[in-house]
Amino acid sequence: MQTGYVRTYERIAPLYDVLDKGYEVLWKRRLRTAAFAGISGTILDAGAGTGCNIPFYPHGARMVAVDASPAMLDRAQRRAARLNREVEFQVLDLTDTGLPDASFDHAVATFVFCVLPDELTLPALQELARIVKPGGTIRILDYTLSRRAAARVWMRLVAPWLQFAFAARYTARFEELLPAARLEVSESRFVFGDSVKFLAARRTDGTQDAGLPGLHPA
Ligand SMILES: C[S@@+](CC[C@H](N)C(=O)[O-])C[C@H]1O[C@@H](n2cnc3c(N)ncnc32)[C@H](O)[C@@H]1O
Repeated sequence: MQTGYVRTYERIAPLYDVLDKGYEVLWKRRLRTAAFAGISGTILDAGAGTGCNIPFYPHGARMVAVDASPAMLDRAQRRAARLNREVEFQVLDLTDTGLPDASFDHAVATFVFCVLPDELTLPALQELARIVKPGGTIRILDYTLSRRAAARVWMRLVAPWLQFAFAARYTARFEELLPAARLEVSESRFVFGDSVKFLAARRTDGTQDAGLPGLHPA
């Protein structure tokens, strides 16, 4: 049975790219480029959605794109075909993927934790930690609630729309839960004002991620 937020994505899949287009053009593409920079091997795009990251996948990497919403992933599949990119797709739940232990060199999750309900944040982080190899890294790009008064007011104003359209929020607590998932932060910085954060983390039994080349705070 699909949970409420997955049903939201089943419903908005045909509209997702249109609704997000302005953000994509204005700032998301720049961040997506950097989120996949400098990594190789077998890479998981966790919560791949309609495949907005596909143009930025590193060439030569084995890419696996997964999502809980078949309708979102169907659009990602079509994007990959259009772009002539080889990608493996799988519909699955990030909190219980069924994928083998240590099967990825890296996992990248862009704007997924803003959607995962609070009680699923830690299970998803634990699952990513399990399926990434020792020494492997997890990169997260996601919203945070700004500390600036004006930006906070704006975020509070648009929060109902964000919740309605994307089942998302600005207040996800993914960073503070990393240690509980036995993940250690190797990089944490704001990359769009103080409203979007990039995090690189590694399994505590692994080695350090070199971080994000070319990304500087906005
Ligand atoms: C806001 S969209 C972001 C999509 C894409 N990563 C991007 O950057 O455009 C969030 C995506 O996460 C997926 N998602 C949410 N919870 C999930 C879960 N538990 N397992 C797999 N995918 C999930 C949703 O179906 C949706 O496609």
